[in-house]
Amino acid sequence: MSESITELVLATGNPNKVAELAQLLGGRWSIKRRPEDLAETIEDGATLYENAAKKAREVHMATGSACLADDTGLFVAALGGRPGVFSARYAGPNADSADNVRLLLSELSGADDRTAYFETVLVLLDARGHETVVNGRCEGVIAEVSTGRAGFGYDPVFVPFDGDGRSFAEMTADEKNTFSHRGRALRTLRQELV
Ligand code: IMP
Repeated sequence: MSESITELVLATGNPNKVAELAQLLGGRWSIKRRPEDLAETIEDGATLYENAAKKAREVHMATGSACLADDTGLFVAALGGRPGVFSARYAGPNADSADNVRLLLSELSGADDRTAYFETVLVLLDARGHETVVNGRCEGVIAEVSTGRAGFGYDPVFVPFDGDGRSFAEMTADEKNTFSHRGRALRTLRQELV
């Protein structure tokens, strides 16, 4: 059983994810950022869970506080589930989001099946190191061109099935959170912790 949590350190340094997580968690916990002097976690796990657990443990060891880590992948049917756990480095070790999106659109050029899903695994460690793991999935399709300027990563080409045809990057933060993998995972986490 998790001990009661009042203060939570986010293990991610990605400012976009911090903003989403803080918006979804605010009100319930006091949110703190990952210590700036802590080296970035090397994400060398074979699964989203392994990477998220590694991030959570490193931050927990450094701070002694309760902490929450997220690892997310985009799984594309026509690519046999790629880029999956390697989504951040899909177009190479120094790739940015524009490079990743460009490669994805080129690999899917002419594909009939453009279905894909995002999956997020969240690992929460309480101050004693007790672990809670949840996941969240969002199914959709990869659009043929990028649209929208909001969000981050693959958002301009991901159109969730549960939406109205707009990409995540055309949605407000609240709209994206309603459908998204991360929003779903966090709602499950909140339920688990009541
Ligand atoms: P990581 O969880 O930070 O390792 O993210 C893996 C990759 O997926 C990175 O390229 C992110 O930009 C991308 N990514 C993670 N979450 C999202 C999201 O909610 N929308 C779009 N791209 C995302």
